[in-house]
Amino acid sequence: MKTNFEALTLKPFNPQKIQARNINFKFSTEIPRHWHDNSLTTTHFINAIGLFLPSFESFMVRVLKSQLGNIKDSKLENQICGFIGQEANHGKAHHKYNQILQNQGYKFETWLKTMDFILAEIMEKRLGSKICLATIAGFEHLTTLLAGIILKVKMLESADSRIRSLWEWHAVEEIEHSSLALILLQETDNSYWLRAVGGLLGAGLVIGFTTLGMLLLVIQEPGFFSCKTLTDLKQLLFTKYKILPYSWKPILEYFKFNFTPCNEDILLLAENLSLSLSQTWVN
Ligand SMILES: [Fe+2]
Ligand SMILES: [Fe+2]
Repeated sequence: MKTNFEALTLKPFNPQKIQARNINFKFSTEIPRHWHDNSLTTTHFINAIGLFLPSFESFMVRVLKSQLGNIKDSKLENQICGFIGQEANHGKAHHKYNQILQNQGYKFETWLKTMDFILAEIMEKRLGSKICLATIAGFEHLTTLLAGIILKVKMLESADSRIRSLWEWHAVEEIEHSSLALILLQETDNSYWLRAVGGLLGAGLVIGFTTLGMLLLVIQEPGFFSCKTLTDLKQLLFTKYKILPYSWKPILEYFKFNFTPCNEDILLLAENLSLSLSQTWVN
């Protein structure tokens, strides 16, 4: 864990100066299959997000790199370079954990190839770079929102400590670079309709990939259809973690004509978390 501490102390939380932190997570097959509160529902909700992140983060890296030559402001260019570095590291860390899931016997190879095909062959080749950038801006709005909810409701407190570290690090960096994709989109093309279409595509991909990935993992569990699965789903979406009540309004706000990201409360939450993570990891 010392590597984690060094990375965070050398590069403190700073949304003005985005920097990649190269963290070497060490996972093993000893991680419990249901590492979140012994619940297959909440475990596979988070695992399903982790399944699509390597594909989506590689897609973001390719699209953002293709835009670097068009950025006129050197400060923004440096921030986007840091953003690219952070997303590349996230993809690698989640790929590493996904291999543990495969070693534990879960099957999802075809699903990973399908997501790569959708992003590389349909989004990039057919829809073009502006729509891809708008989709990334919409996607980043949702990931910031989700990271904020997970931290606010303290969802990771019930997780295995190794997986908790992975997701807390990722949540902190998502919040740190939260508005950058939207800023780049608006610098490139300030059209409301482009942002709105990207918002719909970004939301559609997050919701679709998470729901299908979760279903794919859950049905591989013996006796998955039980009262506990349904009760945990209700707690996840409506009563305990309240993902749906907390997310519908901020999702809709993205489609306002005068939308501007206002993340001050979650920026503070992420900054405090980055400090407490350092304290935890040094001990
Ligand atoms: Fe990320
Ligand atoms: Fe991100």
